Amino acid sequence: MNAAIRGVGKAAIIKYGMKVFGFRSGFSGLIQDDCVELTESDLSGILTLGGTILGTSREKPFKDERVYDLVKSKPEIIAETYARRNLDCLVCIGGNGTQKTANRLSKLGLNIIGMPKTIDNDVWGTDISFGFDSAINNICDALDKIHTTANSHRRIMVVETMGHHAGWLALHSGIAGGGDVILIPEIPYSISAVCSTLAERARSGKPYSIVVVAEGIDYPRESGTAAGYISRSISKFADLETRETILGYIQRGGSPSPADRIIATRLGAYAADLASRGVFGTMAAIVNNELTQIPLSEVSGKVKSVPLNLPLLAHARSIGTSFGDCMPGNGI
Ligand code: F6P
Repeated sequence: MNAAIRGVGKAAIIKYGMKVFGFRSGFSGLIQDDCVELTESDLSGILTLGGTILGTSREKPFKDERVYDLVKSKPEIIAETYARRNLDCLVCIGGNGTQKTANRLSKLGLNIIGMPKTIDNDVWGTDISFGFDSAINNICDALDKIHTTANSHRRIMVVETMGHHAGWLALHSGIAGGGDVILIPEIPYSISAVCSTLAERARSGKPYSIVVVAEGIDYPRESGTAAGYISRSISKFADLETRETILGYIQRGGSPSPADRIIATRLGAYAADLASRGVFGTMAAIVNNELTQIPLSEVSGKVKSVPLNLPLLAHARSIGTSFGDCMPGNGI
């Protein structure tokens, strides 16, 4: 996030001579009019810092339009802040929820430019969102470490990643981290397929297996976590010793990866360029490694899931990775 704030802010100031303000805590800052001018020197020294100097929130002004000051709705208050501050453009940095709100603000007549930021990589219309690569690095680092116990104790290690309803994080980290079974929401799995893969690996002398599970897979929610459910099911049906790890917020922390810094800088400079040309109601995106812009109305309300014909899935299958695909006719 900081790399993106720096990218858009520095380009706006240095290349286009604009004034830049940052609203604290996402859309909450627009409701509270909690705003600070960002000078070029404010934007220096933040590239390597994880998180955001402005803070963030889960505020969804259109979801809960609850009257804020007993007279107006939150979107009306945001539009007033925008007008009172004499803004020419508002850059909204975030994932699907942010882009949805951005589109609705654009429909209210505000000049909006979106930038895709999420570890989930599920923003529609862009091949890549910044944050994803850093999270993949964090997950791989954890998987590398988990291999040690897996090998020494000859266990099945079940590791749960974030990703919301999409499987990108589990898929990429699972492949990069040597996952033997990878379960993602887009591919229906069966416990018996998972167990037969793991039992076969054990029979063939492989001392351990790594199972990477996306938090968004289908499983009985009353069973606790996805990893817990899968881990207990494996130990029950395959009689193998299992342990689970839920990586949680570790995935989102730390300094951004070099690739994310570059993506955020490219998209930030491009967003400033869009602002200078008045190309509003759009999201800055990367498609086939080229910068482009997509109407927010096209992005809004969609999720970019892992397509079942993704070549990466076929490549992983060809090296023996299992996605636990349901085998027709079995009961588990
Ligand atoms: O969208 C990013 C994400 O980290 C998801 O992967 C995860 O499901 C969610 O946010 C967690 O949200 P919160 O920070 O509100 O707990």
